[in-house]
Amino acid sequence: MSQEKIFEYFKVAVELVKEAGKIVKEAKNFEVERKEEVWDLVTVYDKKVEDILIEKLKEKYPAHDFIGEEETYDKGHLAELTDKPTWIIDPIDGTANFVRKLPMSCISVGLTIQKDLVLGIVLNPFLDQLFTAIKGNGAYLNEKRIFTRKVNRIEQTNYNYELSLARAEKYRDLYLYRLSKIIAKAEGIRSLGSAALGLCYVACGQTDVYQCDGLSPWDAAAGVVIVREAGGFVCDTSEQRLGLEFDVMKPNFMAAPNENVAKEYLKLLKEADEERISKQK
Ligand code: IPD
Ligand code: CA
Ligand code: CA
Repeated sequence: MSQEKIFEYFKVAVELVKEAGKIVKEAKNFEVERKEEVWDLVTVYDKKVEDILIEKLKEKYPAHDFIGEEETYDKGHLAELTDKPTWIIDPIDGTANFVRKLPMSCISVGLTIQKDLVLGIVLNPFLDQLFTAIKGNGAYLNEKRIFTRKVNRIEQTNYNYELSLARAEKYRDLYLYRLSKIIAKAEGIRSLGSAALGLCYVACGQTDVYQCDGLSPWDAAAGVVIVREAGGFVCDTSEQRLGLEFDVMKPNFMAAPNENVAKEYLKLLKEADEERISKQK
């Protein structure tokens, strides 16, 4: 696929995301529903934004595939990622923030081509922040180039550990053991409630590390391109694949400002996992 074509996709998608941003920004008087899990919220705006984005992109690119959070929920299963250009869409990431009017939620659109992440667009309409990246062409915040923070010692890093999934019993111990190691070493801990923005904050140096286990493709696709293009390092953090390559279809991962910092934290995660497993025996 030519770079020219990818730039064309990017331009089309950015305009659509900006339009969708206006809808989200003006949202009012809506009801909040819960999916199966108490923490999994959805509003009419999540559905509306996803429908518009998919409909408009499909109109222009009928041969492309789509993986959207809400259509996946309706279908009841996650589609397989193919080699076709595939738009991976989270219509509102940080819905729990959105419903509380905490201005830390966004629209997130990523694209894979031959299973490779090639572009990412994340818009926080409440703070007018548009994060973008095209593979090989750098990452931007409102068209200004951004980079991860230059930092090498984990004692100087701020760790955004997305803890909400620790509410699920299957993840709780994994998170808590790891948290106790990280909290003893990092300069500070955050837990902000939007994976896509969490990744963008690493990309622009407003936090240093982002981690979450148990997410879905749409939470991570766009933000991962943006972090990588800002100079960051992304790797798997699942117990079985600790430190290996990030898998967009099973996003258990850490995004760090560079590989050194990631490696230091991976050592802590490994220690935590070993401690937990030995106690469970
Ligand atoms: C959620 C956010 C949150 C993460 C949740 C996700 P949603 O996405 O990314 O940070 O902790 O697990 O589900 O539901 O607001 O799109
Ligand atoms: Ca999400
Ligand atoms: Ca969502």
